[in-house]
Amino acid sequence: MASSITRPQPSISPSSFSGYSQSKPAEIDREIAEVGPGTVCGEYLRRFWHPVFMTSDLDDMPKAIKILGEELVLFRYGDKTKIGLVHKYCPHRRASLEYGKCEANGIRCCYHGWLFAPDGEILETPGEDNDAKAANHLRASKRLGAYPVIEYKGLIFTYMGPPELVPEFPIYDTFEIEGMKMSPYKAPYKCNWIQVLDAIMDPVHTSFLHSQNSHPQFSDGMCELGELKFYERNENHFLGSSTRRVNDNAWVRLNELILPNFTQAGSAYTADGTKQHYFGRSAFTRWVVPVDDENSIAFAWANFGERGDPHEYDNQDGYEMIEQGEVLERSDLERQKFPADSEAVEGMGAISTHKGENLMPSDRGVTIYRQRIRRQIRELGKGQEPPQPLSIDGMTVRTYGQDTVLHMPKKEGPADRKFLAVIGEKVMAMEFEHEGKDDAARDASIIAELKNIEAEG
Ligand code: FES
Ligand SMILES: [Fe+2]
Repeated sequence: MASSITRPQPSISPSSFSGYSQSKPAEIDREIAEVGPGTVCGEYLRRFWHPVFMTSDLDDMPKAIKILGEELVLFRYGDKTKIGLVHKYCPHRRASLEYGKCEANGIRCCYHGWLFAPDGEILETPGEDNDAKAANHLRASKRLGAYPVIEYKGLIFTYMGPPELVPEFPIYDTFEIEGMKMSPYKAPYKCNWIQVLDAIMDPVHTSFLHSQNSHPQFSDGMCELGELKFYERNENHFLGSSTRRVNDNAWVRLNELILPNFTQAGSAYTADGTKQHYFGRSAFTRWVVPVDDENSIAFAWANFGERGDPHEYDNQDGYEMIEQGEVLERSDLERQKFPADSEAVEGMGAISTHKGENLMPSDRGVTIYRQRIRRQIRELGKGQEPPQPLSIDGMTVRTYGQDTVLHMPKKEGPADRKFLAVIGEKVMAMEFEHEGKDDAARDASIIAELKNIEAEG
């Protein structure tokens, strides 16, 4: 007798499902993901100055930090205005210097009182006879690991590479803009540095993640998908422009990355495409610094003033919104309903598997900068040092992160997209032409030329 059982069936034919064939996780991209001592990318990153802490977070007590996979201790000494950065573990018997004492000449270990100078010299070993052979030999032959420190505008920078190769501390054009207030901030991310860095070379995510997906996190105008163009200015400077139509205005916004991890963009809140704006500068001046392979921190200044963002955002919530579109501390439900950069990049997992990606033409910015990092890592492996940020004729490092909004009435039909693309290219070509001028002359001539481009229509 034939069975009369009715079996439930999937509503879609099982043959079209590919979960099983893709269930093996792709490998992580170790060459650019691993940052610890002795890794190839870790060596590369150790050729540059990086911000590692905010001055305002460093009080009288030592602070344990982790940078590039190294456990370190930051401390004040002398009259408390001087700052040292040393390896965390005491070379005597490995007590943590986080529990050390800040003194006039350095930091003293809590366990047996050894005193270390900021450059790691062992100054005192009080439990030993000071003149004994062992103590003399130790002081002459051993040091605590230490790194040089520069405190600048509220951020503490260090260089963790070979001491004979320490580069000049780079000064960028946006470090001194008349009328601009720079407020230091930090934003931690629970993931690898590359996935945080990717977003700066990805102008498309601004239109989706920050705009169409839930609600406009910056301005309504950013919902619009811009005409994109990517530029490679020199060996380590990458730019992505997006030119949008907002009513009768053309809005040219530029994001940039200077390798390995310096980023700028346009403003977060000032420019929304509705009002004319000429060479407004970046909302932030920012570095994405690896803590270890699975954590990173963006250290930055948020920039406020006529050419930056409005002063009303000069507070902790404002910094976080400038950084990633929403404040950082939110409920799980809010994070799901209104995801921002943290959710997008941390949601990929601690280290995203690049082999599981399908990069498209709109990802060109991401593709080219990752390739360049890879190339510089491999060249360093053969003995060629990576280029430092380029300073032309000893001037500040030229950057382009900006917003420009020009009154350029809309063309009919598809011609308008082409028109926007041409305007974007014209603006950028003109800005590149002026990079040899000193800061004030450059700003004045770029702004005058932008008004000419606008007048020509
Ligand atoms: S462990 Fe630091 S002085 Fe002994
Ligand atoms: Fe973003």
